[in-house]
Amino acid sequence: MAEAVGLVSTLQNWSVMDKIILSTKTPEKKTIFGKGNFQMLTERIRETPGVSAVFMNVERLSAVSEKELQDAWGLKVFDRYSLVLHIFRRNARTKEAKLQISLAEIPLLRSRLKNEVGNLDQQGGGSRYIMGSGETLYEVQQRLLKEQELKIRSVLERLRKKRHMLRTQRKHKDFPIVSVMGYTNCGKTTLIKALTGDVALQPKDQLFATLDVTIHGGRLPSHMTVLYVDTIGFLSQLPHQLIDSFSATLEDVAHSDLIVHVRDISHPETVNQKVNVLNVLKNLQIPERLMNSIIEVHNKIDLVQGYESPDPEAVPISALNELGLDELKQRVEESVMKSTGKQTMILKVDLNSPQLGWLYKEATVQEVHDGDDDCSAEVKVVIGAAAYGRYRKLFQVT
Ligand code: GTP
Repeated sequence: MAEAVGLVSTLQNWSVMDKIILSTKTPEKKTIFGKGNFQMLTERIRETPGVSAVFMNVERLSAVSEKELQDAWGLKVFDRYSLVLHIFRRNARTKEAKLQISLAEIPLLRSRLKNEVGNLDQQGGGSRYIMGSGETLYEVQQRLLKEQELKIRSVLERLRKKRHMLRTQRKHKDFPIVSVMGYTNCGKTTLIKALTGDVALQPKDQLFATLDVTIHGGRLPSHMTVLYVDTIGFLSQLPHQLIDSFSATLEDVAHSDLIVHVRDISHPETVNQKVNVLNVLKNLQIPERLMNSIIEVHNKIDLVQGYESPDPEAVPISALNELGLDELKQRVEESVMKSTGKQTMILKVDLNSPQLGWLYKEATVQEVHDGDDDCSAEVKVVIGAAAYGRYRKLFQVT
């Protein structure tokens, strides 16, 4: 219930006037309440002043039930799917997020259309309405929806290819990728802002503030640059069709070098939230090595007096007050070194060759010291196995 209320309150100017838990029949059934419950609910809605909509906390209402309830109450009725979609629509910024929302709206439009045609049929019209092409109105509308869907999918596919290309370029540059995941409002954006000093990031006390994957560069203690990926937040039972349409934005996660799972440990549902996040990750088919190396971060410790983590592996922090970040960076570095096969090496370079310049570009140079003679230097670098292989081949170093 708390989460349902939280969902509604996240919308600006929306507030919950009254709430009630009632048993329902399955959402697919034509009438979802028993007669007594329905009457009681109808009266309660009529008696509550200022109600402009009803939110039914079920995943999907059938188009028939939605219409029946709306007709009976004279109010707009939302289910989880349409409410979350509504929140998404308000928060979408990029073209990709907007397209994904349009795609997620199509099943809603389709089932409404079916329902409307069903009603027309009962009145003796509807599917017999022949258009010039010999198609019924219903068929034309279904075809237009299908065309619309294909169009959106093809634009999304193009954007996905572009993202794939960017990913390949990033990999080539050898910057490790750290995906930051967690429940909506747990503090992912605040954490990335604190780790990278990226002032453009604007954390918001609002659900689903981040709908698009955004990437921010940050430095680790060894000066190595990593890219932090801010991902869309989770919600328990996020309608799975919605997850489907947003799964593309989570695709990058499977290709990252490390996952940081941020938990708001001040939240009363924090344990359930963890279970939900891990379940979604499992469904995303994240490689096992990534699942096993997840760093769990316990955020917002400033809100829990004398917080002691029950899990010694977890890193307690306050992203807002910048507490515990050094330990977190250290852990991220250890993990990234392990997963990328990067290591710290001391290389002797010839200053008359472009070796040093190459290392600056392709690896992370930490220190440069004078060598035995005027034209050599000793360089401490963090370098991946592939880059070291290229270095050896290029400069014929043994
Ligand atoms: P989504 O974009 O919805 O997924 O949220 P998010 O996980 O990116 O959360 P965000 O960083 O936007 O923070 C949500 C709210 O929590 C903001 O009001 C932050 O100021 C607050 N917050 C984040 N970290 C801390 C913390 O360590 N302590 C406290 N007290 N508040 C925090």
